[in-house]
Amino acid sequence: MDRNPRKGPTVAATTPGPAVKRLVVLVSGSGTNLQALLDEIERAGAESYGARIVAVGADRTGIEGLARAERAGLPTFVCRVKDFATREEWDAALAGAVAAHEPDLVVSAGFMKIVGKEFLARFGGRFVNTHPALLPSFPGAHGVRDALAYGAKVTGCTVHFVDDGVDTGPIIAQGVVEVRDEDDESALHERIKDVERRLLAEVVGRLARNGYRIEGRKVVIQ
Ligand code: GRF
Repeated sequence: MDRNPRKGPTVAATTPGPAVKRLVVLVSGSGTNLQALLDEIERAGAESYGARIVAVGADRTGIEGLARAERAGLPTFVCRVKDFATREEWDAALAGAVAAHEPDLVVSAGFMKIVGKEFLARFGGRFVNTHPALLPSFPGAHGVRDALAYGAKVTGCTVHFVDDGVDTGPIIAQGVVEVRDEDDESALHERIKDVERRLLAEVVGRLARNGYRIEGRKVVIQ
């Protein structure tokens, strides 16, 4: 098995500056990570935080994540895979819907779809995901369940840039959570999400305020 980390080119991404950066957030579920971003921006003020959310997108309707966005007065859009003939068409439509809001950064906050080539061509190097495990362990849709089943004693969350693999992109920050003997998936996931929400809000603000560069696998926040 190839255990070498994936290498990539150095990508110059956002630069620091006084401008308040534009965020598009993508959700698929309850949207508590989106809420953490909204709350932190509200608490700090967009100028001090360095960014504001300009739109929220989803891959499905009827979710609390979209309701949170609507309550916050934000524009929303939905791109459902089943409404398109091919996955490529869905990917291009999603990329177009996001691009319409001219984001500096796109945040996948519990967005449960893998994006394709077109999306990455437009937003690679500025598409941030949060994953509920300590990558590179336990990638994929069941990171919490898989860590528990494996018998891991610590797990946590990882905020990373998205590349063309599944949860393989350059790591920005991680938070550690101990696994307890009595944990089931839902109890463990709730404790991970406590850490994850704080980490995501903190990291996105730092990326926006300070600027960053991606050197191969290494993310340097300036
Ligand atoms: C988070 O733990 C995220 O990492 C995972 O799904 C959860 C989303 O939670 N992929 P929420 O929708 O932000 O409440």
